[in-house]
Amino acid sequence: MSDNIIITFANQKGGVGKTTLCTLFANYLVAHRKKVLVIDCDVQQTISFRRKADLQKYMDVTIPYNIQPFNIANATNVQNLMTNLRKMQGIILIDAPGNLTQQGLIPIFVNSDYVICPFQYEVTSINATATFISFIYKIRAKLSEDVAQLFLVDNSHDKRFGKKEELDLWRMTAKRFSEYGYITPMVEYRAEMRRYTTLYLMKTQEAIISPAFDFIYNHIFIKGEKNGKE
Ligand SMILES: Nc1ncnc2c1ncn2[C@@H]1O[C@H](COP(=O)(O)OP(=O)(O)OP(=O)(O)O)[C@@H](O)[C@H]1O
Ligand SMILES: [Mg+2]
Repeated sequence: MSDNIIITFANQKGGVGKTTLCTLFANYLVAHRKKVLVIDCDVQQTISFRRKADLQKYMDVTIPYNIQPFNIANATNVQNLMTNLRKMQGIILIDAPGNLTQQGLIPIFVNSDYVICPFQYEVTSINATATFISFIYKIRAKLSEDVAQLFLVDNSHDKRFGKKEELDLWRMTAKRFSEYGYITPMVEYRAEMRRYTTLYLMKTQEAIISPAFDFIYNHIFIKGEKNGKE
């Protein structure tokens, strides 16, 4: 059975962890023997530059997956890219830039099976994420419920977080967001998360991301199969 699944990492809020989680999820999927391709649409091309640096540092490694930088300025080019990606075998991860005004983003969401949206439990991040969710919902309402299914990941979670008003905000937000997407287990704020490579998943990182990524993996590859999806 061949997989063709397109998963986009996005939020209109910048700096929430899209690039970090995209790279770590690519490493995680390879560890689960999945064939992966990363499309790097971030204007800063963080993942592509990181791969170059990784290859200079670790010369003799086997490349676990390819990373393709892509400029989304032209919507027609993006549409062509998405049409081609749909024909490919494997799991395609797209790292989106943190700016929803770019026209080229629409064909990305329209052609994504899943959208993984990292966010943080603080007011600006929650508001931007709510705007992003409603944007995705407009697309889904127009097209189909199978398009751009949302996973919301509480990333960089601070364990010290726990005053009553913080917990109230957390509960209220989780309840509201869960009407629109799956709330995954949280990913802690940890220094090890900053030291990722594009070549493999470190043991320490695996422990941090496993609850969230196992949740997503089970949903897409185990429950998804039962629903008749490949
Ligand atoms: N769980 C985490 N723990 C600690 N640091 C993290 C975590 N997740 C992300 N970071 C750090 O937060 C910063 C922003 O992360 P990242 O670049 O992945 O965000 P982004 O959403 O892709 O940003 P942009 O909108 O600029 O593309 C980076 O320095 C990254 O190392
Ligand atoms: Mg980024």
